[in-house]
Parts: sequence; C-alpha cells; structure tokens
Amino acid sequence: MLKYDFCQMNSKLKEKIFKDIQAVADRVETETYVIGGYVRDLFLERPSKDIDIVTIGSGIDFATEVAKNLKPRPRVNVFKNFGTAMLKYKDLEIEFVGARKESYQRNSRKPIVEDGTLEDDQNRRDFTINAMAFSLNGDRFGELVDPFNGMDDLNNKIIRTPLDPDVTFSDDPLRIMRAIRFATQFDFEIEDETLKAIARNKDRIKIVSAERIIEELNKIIMAPKPSKGFRLLEETGLLEIIFPELQNMKGVDKVNGIGHKDNFYHTIEVLDRLVPNSDNLWLRWSALLHDIAKPKTKRFVEGLGWTFHAHNFVGVKMIPKIFKRMKLPLNEKMKYVQKMVGLHMRPIVLSEDIVTDSAVRRLLFEAGDDIDDLMTLCEADITSKNPEKVKRYMKNFKVVRQKLKEIEEKDAIRNFQPPVDGDLIMETFNLSPCREVGLLKDAIKEAILDGEIHNNYEEAFAFMMKKAEEMGLKPKG
Ligand code: CTP
Repeated sequence: MLKYDFCQMNSKLKEKIFKDIQAVADRVETETYVIGGYVRDLFLERPSKDIDIVTIGSGIDFATEVAKNLKPRPRVNVFKNFGTAMLKYKDLEIEFVGARKESYQRNSRKPIVEDGTLEDDQNRRDFTINAMAFSLNGDRFGELVDPFNGMDDLNNKIIRTPLDPDVTFSDDPLRIMRAIRFATQFDFEIEDETLKAIARNKDRIKIVSAERIIEELNKIIMAPKPSKGFRLLEETGLLEIIFPELQNMKGVDKVNGIGHKDNFYHTIEVLDRLVPNSDNLWLRWSALLHDIAKPKTKRFVEGLGWTFHAHNFVGVKMIPKIFKRMKLPLNEKMKYVQKMVGLHMRPIVLSEDIVTDSAVRRLLFEAGDDIDDLMTLCEADITSKNPEKVKRYMKNFKVVRQKLKEIEEKDAIRNFQPPVDGDLIMETFNLSPCREVGLLKDAIKEAILDGEIHNNYEEAFAFMMKKAEEMGLKPKG
C-alpha cells in the first residue's frame, strides 16, 4: 500500500491561494503548476509556507496578474535577472518563475537559461522527490505530474536524481550537499548510482560558496540523527574537503597493541546523544568541536597509554579559524562554543573526585548561565559501551547537578557581580586605577569562590579592609 495517497491530492491543495491562482491561470490561459519542495512536503506532512509556482510563459507577468486579484494586493518583487517574481501574501511566500531549460558551464553555478516546457523544468531539478508538480489549471487542478516517479521514491525513502547524476551534480554541485542533507533530515537512503556520483563529483563542491555549504551543514546538524549525514559526508570524501579537522579525527592509532577510541565516531555519537535534550545549534556545534584538538594533542606515554593533554584548550584556539573559513558567526555564538569546548572536561573531572563546594563554585563562575548546557553536553559525552561505567558517570553527574543547584541557591555565583567593585576600592583607599585595585578585586573574588566569605557586601567589605591592611593600604580620612 502506498503511504502517500495521491488519489486524494485535490484535497491536499488546501491553501485558498491555489484557487486564486487557478482563476488567473484559466483566465489568461497559462499552464501553471505548483512544484518542488512544497509538493514534496505536502506528502511528507511537513507544513511549508514557501510555494514555488511554474508557468509556461513569463513568471513575472503571471505574478503581476495574480497580485492584482488578491486582497489586500501584495507587492510584486521582481528579480529581472533571474526571470522570477515573489509575492508575500498572508503568511505565504510565493515565487513565480517561467518554466525553463538550463545549461551550465563548468566553473560556475550560474546557468544559461532559456524558456522551456514543464518537462524541461522538471528535468533540471535536483531530485525525483523535488521534481513533482500539481497542475493548477481548470479541471486538471490537483493532477500530479511526476515523470520520474518521485512518488515511488518518496514511498521507498529514496534520494535519486531525475537525470544522470553526473549531469545533475555537475550542473549544480550544491546538490551534493543537498542530497546528504535530505537523506539525513528525512532518514532516506541515497540511491546507489546517485551516491557513487556524489563521490565522483566531490571536488566540484569547491565552486560552491562557504555560505551555501554551511547552510546545508547546519541543517544536517539540526536533523533528528546528524551522524547519518556525517557518515555520508565522510564516506563520499566530502568531509575531507569541507571539514578536514573533523576528518582528521577518524582512525585509531596503536602502540604496543594499545589503541584509543575513534574520535570521529565518538564525536558524531555525542552529537546524536544531544538531540533529544537540546535543539540549540551552537550546543550541537560545541559537541562537534569538543574533541577537535585530540589529533593535535595525541601522545602515547609509556605506562600511561594515550593522552590528549590540554585538548580542550587547544580546541578553543582552533575554533576561530574553523568558524572564519566556514563563514560561521565570529560573535558571541562563537564565544559560547569556545566556552563549552574549554570547559567540557570540568564536570567529568568533578564527578570523578570528591565534589567540593569551591570546585563547584568555580565551575559556576566560569560557565555562568550556560552551566545547564555544559552539563547537557557532558552527559552526551558519555559514550562508553560499558553499562556499569555509564551508570556510574550518570549518577555522579546527578550529584554534580544537585550540588550546582545548592551552591547557586546559597551563593548566587552564576551571574557573579563583585559585591565590592573597583570604584569602591579606589574611593575607600583614595587610589587611582593601579595594580593594587586589581589585586584587591581578585582577592575578594577568590575568597568568595573558595568559600572563605559569602557573596555579600558586608563580608566582602570586611575582607577588603583586612586584605588592604596586609598590603599596607590605609583608608582615606
Ligand atoms: N532546486 C534544485 N537544485 C537546487 C536547489 C533547488 O533543483 N540546488 C529545486 C528543487 O526542485 C527544489 C526547489 O528548487 O525542491 C526549491 O528549492 P529550495 O526552496 O531551495 O529547497 P526545498 O526543496 O524547498 O527544500 P528546503 O526548503 O528544505 O531547502
């Protein structure tokens, strides 16, 4: 039985806009279709507000006619160079384009475009599941035009190009990333010939802009099981091109028969484990990068085995270069990822030791409001296959979480603001900005984090007076 029942498709085109378009299409006698992702998503029951309309003839003229008939009348945004027009109507974004035939040049994603038939237009699309169209004309309204059996592929969960995959990918190499992205998002399989062509054409990805690539990569990261996409990227040779630092993590070295875990597979497992607990893209990036410096810091130490000394700090330093190359934001989002990567060892170390109040206070101070995210990342980081070990870690993390809560309630360290600030120090001792002010400020902070004094004004002020006296400072007046 077909999962996607296309006998019912008339009723699938529920948006009233399709009837409005039909009225215009019939009046101006223009063959018109809704096509591509919107049609696919109807069957996948993924609600979409982006509608692509193809007409046989000028898409711009047709959009203008449609706009005239809508109330309130939307503005027509015309992109002359592309021969497209876009309307925003209610919560919909509707793009109109004349059916076209495209041919591509070797070194550019910009095609040479000519007018064409619906079939020409469907031929130039990326995947069979993205090439289906519904007619919007007269009594053909709702008829599915599916020359490449996209419906079968949708039912069988297959990603396949409509034409020879070498042609489709070479025409627009971004589709290489799109294939892997769709397979990951929908949990589809990439058909064999299509997959082989991805590997054959992988170097063509180099003509695609970093911005486009990262858009696809982020969608893979946000998918229900991102590891599927990363495995495909690795197997097809794309990972090496777009993310060599992650590729470097693959493999296991052995000395005296002692190996370490494969950090690539570990990393993508951590990413998967994060999915049910966080849909924060940047926490997922933190998972992807938490061990990124392991290949760089890897050493075999006799009697100790494999070590990755300071890989968290080296990782922090690697991040700006990676973010810059990948055109990821270099702002507070990157800083957040750096913070997570830098701190990712701390809760584990804490949980292995006796959880002292001062260690917890220090962690709270450094992580601030991101402490919960850090704990979520650290729990996802436990990928051991030994159930006893996992149980022990999880239990210890529970203790750490409990302790974090208690200390925060007591000492409010999360958003630490010194109860005695530099201005007050200068005022009290009649100082201008100098080294002593910094020393005093630091001493107060340390005393609070160590639990010597509580995080309040009275205790901090008394501590400052005592410390200042030791330093030979005299209060004014
Ligand atoms: N398309 C294509 N090749 C591309 C990009 C898009 O053939 N490199 C075609 C496909 O038919 C696709 C349609 O244009 O369905 C619309 O593209 P787009 O809006 O980018 O993607 P969707 O398929 O709608 O999917 P998503 O919104 O998830 O990106």
